[in-house]
Amino acid sequence: MYGSLVGLELASLVLLALLGWLAGNRASKLVYAGTGEKLRRQTRRLLRWPPVLTVVCAAQAGSAIVIAGSFDKTFWLDRLALHAPLAVIPVLGLWFISVPRLVRLLRDTAGPEKEPLSSDIRSRTADPGLIVPFRAVALGALTALYFAFKPPFPFSLPDAAVPLLALAVALAAIGYGHSRRSRRAAQSEAALPRPPLWRRCLRGLTILAAVVVTAAVPWAIAAQNSKLPERIDMTAGPMDDGKGSTGQGQHAPAGHAEYLAATAGAEAQVSVASLTGPHSQPDRRFTLTAEKQTIRLASGKTVEAWTYNGQVPGPELRVKEGEVVEVTLVNKDIDAGVTIHWHGLDVPNAEDGVTGVTQDAVMPGQTHTYRFRAEQTGTFWYHTHQDSLEGVSNGLFGSLIVEPADDGNREGERDITVMTHAWDGAGMAIAASDGVDRVRVAPGTPVRLRLVNTDNWVRQTYRLVGTDFRVAAIDGTDLNEPGELESGTRLVLTTGGRYDATFVMPDRPVFLSVGGRKDLGVFMSPDGSGDIPDLPAGSSEFDPLHYGKPKETPFGKDSAFDREFTMVLDNELGFFNGQYNMLYTLNGEVFPNTPAFMVKEGDLVKTTIVNRGMVDHPMHLHGHHVLVLSRNGEAADGSPWWADTVDVLPGDRYEIAFRADNPGLWMDHCHNLDHAAAGMTMHLMYEGVTTPYAAGSATGNHPE
Ligand code: C2O
Ligand code: CU
Repeated sequence: MYGSLVGLELASLVLLALLGWLAGNRASKLVYAGTGEKLRRQTRRLLRWPPVLTVVCAAQAGSAIVIAGSFDKTFWLDRLALHAPLAVIPVLGLWFISVPRLVRLLRDTAGPEKEPLSSDIRSRTADPGLIVPFRAVALGALTALYFAFKPPFPFSLPDAAVPLLALAVALAAIGYGHSRRSRRAAQSEAALPRPPLWRRCLRGLTILAAVVVTAAVPWAIAAQNSKLPERIDMTAGPMDDGKGSTGQGQHAPAGHAEYLAATAGAEAQVSVASLTGPHSQPDRRFTLTAEKQTIRLASGKTVEAWTYNGQVPGPELRVKEGEVVEVTLVNKDIDAGVTIHWHGLDVPNAEDGVTGVTQDAVMPGQTHTYRFRAEQTGTFWYHTHQDSLEGVSNGLFGSLIVEPADDGNREGERDITVMTHAWDGAGMAIAASDGVDRVRVAPGTPVRLRLVNTDNWVRQTYRLVGTDFRVAAIDGTDLNEPGELESGTRLVLTTGGRYDATFVMPDRPVFLSVGGRKDLGVFMSPDGSGDIPDLPAGSSEFDPLHYGKPKETPFGKDSAFDREFTMVLDNELGFFNGQYNMLYTLNGEVFPNTPAFMVKEGDLVKTTIVNRGMVDHPMHLHGHHVLVLSRNGEAADGSPWWADTVDVLPGDRYEIAFRADNPGLWMDHCHNLDHAAAGMTMHLMYEGVTTPYAAGSATGNHPE
């Protein structure tokens, strides 16, 4: 719904600009009509345009009003206050200024057909009042389009002043040109001769050149300013204290030093490097060696992969709740460097594995040891957080399963991890299996499918057919009394997210389809053989918002929050690191200009996430699990929904909350890794936390 409204609005603006310009060309040709007959014909034709333009304008303004009205006025105010007026006001100008003049022209030329026009009529055919409103329709729509691709954020009229001023100047210049022409027409003996084509072209080119030259300087400056510095201190950017909400979550940017000077407790500085896991004797030890390896998929296709221990995914790390885990990372030959980030496991900050924030990249020949106590249970995964886009795409990931200390009730459970991933050039696969895996499962066996979407882009759809089932856990956290879902229900999982699907094996085949395909998935039957069942058409999609039964949570939507942040996701055209591109912005900015959300240990924090853009953004906060409070004003009233990766669809507005109970400097980014690599990252920062690490080309650390 939101997507089509935005599409309609943009298409209407484009159409308005085009048609307005064509109509304007017709209007400015009236002055060349030599006779009353010709003039009347052209005027009558011109009068057909305003109704057409009005219809397009109504589509534009209508969609702008519906978006702002039904989604959220605060966040779509620019559509109401800028886009709509820029379309509506010029069209009103047409009706109140141009049309009456055209009608009078028609009336006053009703005399003898072939007679040359009087000088008064001739001057009125070039009347700026007649022509400028047509031009205003086109230029107004263009200005609105500019604002659509470069939204002023947070919305304020002064921020929009420069383009509006440019529009006013252009219209004034056009008006001035026509008034001169009108005077010339009045003084000349006959109708003005139409300038030859070459002169008209020359004029057009001159105007174009003038616009390009004026725009070139700010363009070059913007490109230069967007170049990432060689060294980026992650604690030095703008900050948002989460107090004094402006509705769009933007506060005066200040550096860390100024921020600390203004807040109490600034003395207590603590380095990220000291926030380590336990030093006690580990219960479990693993070694993961990052190395290049040619991987052969089940179909025979090969992939030049970057692996942990020569396999994809890396080895599954399966530990018990409460165990102290030690993982030694060795980099054999990954020149870009590697780390390990424990996605979804809220480890101490120094163990979080983010280059430039919690450690330096581990280069070939180097090692790094991580240590943490596994305090949560469930399905997690690990992946590199150095050059994440490239590293994870190439295969540097694996699953991390924490079994409950007391898992008596899971006795005999069949536990199958399904990590889906799109391999460059080889397509979608479950681990290295790009076909159907056949597994034997005896009827009556409880089965748990741990679905992990490791892809950097695709929201994956899984469908389980042949049995009803439950979603037992989201992002590692068990749901309370999850209800039975019908066979075939679509499970749409965002990148980075996990669902545990459970069922008791029936005495017929069960098939987990990946991406709605019959040739990719996991087939289960008593002896592994049998036909793959058909996928039912038109099944519903699983939605966690009202799923399961409520249960007490440590806080909720009525709690008193210490900090309230707003995170607005959007897209715009602009520069990132010197390149002009579609940018995915957080509160109007891309890294490193995105604001850090500042908290104190113990704070209860609420964040409102709004997606104004055209694509979904799976927002992932490190080190904390967030409780989803509501979506689009609708309370999450099923089982408590704890998540580490929240997929915010276009037009959606989520309220989430978390307790700031894990001090450090934490990444908060879009888990569409392409978006993250293009600057869609920010930080959650505890007051007083410093880091000895830095990112940027001079450091070799590239977290995204
Ligand atoms: Cu799964 Cu910051 O990442
Ligand atoms: Cu994104």
